[in-house]
Amino acid sequence: MDKYLIFGATGAIGSNLAEQLKKSNKNIHLIGRNREKLEEMSSNLNCDYTALNILSENISEELKEEFNNTNISGIAYCIGSIDLKPLRISKKEDFQRCLEINFFPIIEAIRALQDNLKRNKGSIVLFSTVAVQKGFVNHSIIASVKGAIEGLTVSLAAEFAPNIKVNCIAPSLTNSKIAEPLLKNKIIADGIAKAHPMKRIGEGKDIASMAKFLLTEESSWITGQIIGVDGGRSRIA
Ligand SMILES: NC(=O)c1ccc[n+]([C@@H]2O[C@H](COP(=O)([O-])OP(=O)(O)OC[C@H]3O[C@@H](n4cnc5c(N)ncnc54)[C@H](OP(=O)(O)O)[C@@H]3O)[C@@H](O)[C@H]2O)c1
Repeated sequence: MDKYLIFGATGAIGSNLAEQLKKSNKNIHLIGRNREKLEEMSSNLNCDYTALNILSENISEELKEEFNNTNISGIAYCIGSIDLKPLRISKKEDFQRCLEINFFPIIEAIRALQDNLKRNKGSIVLFSTVAVQKGFVNHSIIASVKGAIEGLTVSLAAEFAPNIKVNCIAPSLTNSKIAEPLLKNKIIADGIAKAHPMKRIGEGKDIASMAKFLLTEESSWITGQIIGVDGGRSRIA
């Protein structure tokens, strides 16, 4: 069976992507670490799931084994963090931790599933942040790490063409668990919303629509792109 794998399927973007793909009659496979939530989603969406911790040492082997008999049409890596700190008090370990969740598992997952994706002319969708294009205070950790993902996107798009397309979405602040610390204060949240030309914070479905487009055959001539889904924040003053 052909499937789209959604890493971080329980998150704001991952769960909306799962719903949107399912609505378009695509087969999906949910991946996350919260078994209970995955079980509930998989029963609602009538699809399979795998519970795993992306930080596991053997992630590459686990994925190879799990999807050995699956034809993979695409993968979306919707796992990540928002690490904010002034550089003065940041340590090397902060950068390391950020790389461990946002970057290294992508390498492991793609390496494990690359031949499978190639056989199926598949697609890969990764996530960066608006903070790579536009400088914000206290963003040195997350902007550097997500910048690495943008570099990876164009490099792999070159390496894998014409067999696998590789694209990246750079969202601005979107309602989600990782954005909660920034959005829980209504005054701050309203201020951030107003800083966007479109005058609101993003929603999971805004980003998921672009992810679905980039994953599926609708975007068959698009690869190596970093696409801002950011309410205009990266481009408009
Ligand atoms: N939200 C934003 O403002 C924003 C802005 C720019 C970029 N992004 C990027 O967009 C992508 C999607 O984020 P989101 O907005 O959907 O955030 P989210 O709602 O917090 O979802 C994050 C997902 O990652 C999963 N996860 C975290 N650590 C994991 C681990 N060790 N193993 C397995 N799964 C793990 C979470 O699982 P649990 O449900 O178990 O926690 C959750 O499913 C990320 O790459 C993020 O960096 C988001």
